[in-house]
Amino acid sequence: MAPTPPPPHVLIFPFPAQGHVNAMLKLTELLLPAGLNITFLISAKDHRSLSGYANIHTRLNSFPGFQFHVIQGLYEGPLDSAEKLTIMFDCMSEKTTLLLRKLILDSPVTTCVIADGIMDFVLDAVEGTGVPVFSFRTISGCAFWAYFSIPDLINSGELPFQGTNMDELIVNVKGMEGFLRRRDLPSFCRSGLSNRTLQQVSSISRRALDAHAIILNTFDDLEGRIVSHIQKHCSNIYTIGPLHAHLKSRSLNKSISSNSLFEEDKTCIGWLDQQPPKSVLYVSFGSIATLTRDQLMEFWYGLVNSKKRFLWVIRKDLVSKDDDKLPSELENGTKERGYLVGWAPQEDVLAHPALGAFLTHNGWNSTLESIVAGIPMVSWPFFADQQINSRFVEAVWKLGIDMKDTCDRTTVERIVNEVMEVRKDEFTESAKRMAKLAMESVSEGGTSYSNLDRLIQDIKTMGV
Ligand code: UDX
Repeated sequence: MAPTPPPPHVLIFPFPAQGHVNAMLKLTELLLPAGLNITFLISAKDHRSLSGYANIHTRLNSFPGFQFHVIQGLYEGPLDSAEKLTIMFDCMSEKTTLLLRKLILDSPVTTCVIADGIMDFVLDAVEGTGVPVFSFRTISGCAFWAYFSIPDLINSGELPFQGTNMDELIVNVKGMEGFLRRRDLPSFCRSGLSNRTLQQVSSISRRALDAHAIILNTFDDLEGRIVSHIQKHCSNIYTIGPLHAHLKSRSLNKSISSNSLFEEDKTCIGWLDQQPPKSVLYVSFGSIATLTRDQLMEFWYGLVNSKKRFLWVIRKDLVSKDDDKLPSELENGTKERGYLVGWAPQEDVLAHPALGAFLTHNGWNSTLESIVAGIPMVSWPFFADQQINSRFVEAVWKLGIDMKDTCDRTTVERIVNEVMEVRKDEFTESAKRMAKLAMESVSEGGTSYSNLDRLIQDIKTMGV
């Protein structure tokens, strides 16, 4: 009798930041039960944090075919600017190129690599080994397509632009004519063509065409129209999102899994339990964004003046100063209607009946989590892909209001009231409709459900 071939073995390799690690861990959680063996490459810092704060670590280790491979010696500083991101890219490329080849060549079977598409050096590292690379993008389809279109914007003279008329329409990103303004382009476009990060993100997106396929954490009812433009360049695309919604729908994690790299303060759930239905604004700017002290205070005054209840995530490093003490008026004056935490169990918070709206930076994970929970958004994008996500939230999906580039107290108060009171019914209705479409996409017969199955089958066929 012929020996049974070993299960396919996949190397999964995220960029070391919360939003990226989170999405790729969710994918891992979906692939393991299908019988794939997985080695998950992770930075020493993220591995330490996951071990300390997240329940997912234990769950993944219960699969005999799963292992973490910890990468030592990476940059461990903040990532809140183009320059710092570049430091991390360079460090990753230097430390992992040889490692990847070694892992592939030493392993008896490596069926494929699923690498964060932001790290195009993986394609070079793996070249010549015969192992296919899937490029997994943790950003939205619309952000990916905008990055991809940057050379067209340069050729047509729409880039670079001087920062004078930020409301001028951009016409050379196909499918976005008529509503995309300069201010909605990924933030790196604002800093001119010499900006290295802009060059990198643009060429990285084109480089995805050299991969075996592209995986996007999105769904067709949300972004199918935009994805069809990408498909003209790359026919092999798997739209399999929202990944966390699959896990919910397949009941793979009855208690919602935490992939947090920060310690969650669960006391906020008790506080939410005491609030009336749909009354609370959840405020969080993800894991990377930073605020100046002035911005922090403008947000705070805007929130207090709006007279709405709010739950606000103020990370230890949210304020971009050495000044790590919260201003006293914020600590004392919040008590009446607000609750502050250092890090929240975000998916649980968004699913709570007391939640009315989400003031978000529109990182792609947060945007998808808000969509699945059916929560309208007030958008304040910080950088990178978030500027375009927030434009889609307002202009295309009609799920909230984009407050981009302003956060003075009067604007914050006005927009929060607009979303939670004046236009509450309209936004609640469209958020509910989109949440239904999201859950349908991951249910049996839905597009993301079928695409995920197709991905699994395709990997299994490669392993034969
Ligand atoms: C970054 C980019 O900003 C984002 O646009 C890109 O798509 C991925 O990488 P980040 O800025 O951290 O990520 O935002 P986001 O993508 O929203 O990811 C944050 C994650 O942290 C979310 O999954 C959210 O649920 C989680 N989170 C955030 C918590 O669990 N608790 C919190 O208090 C805040």
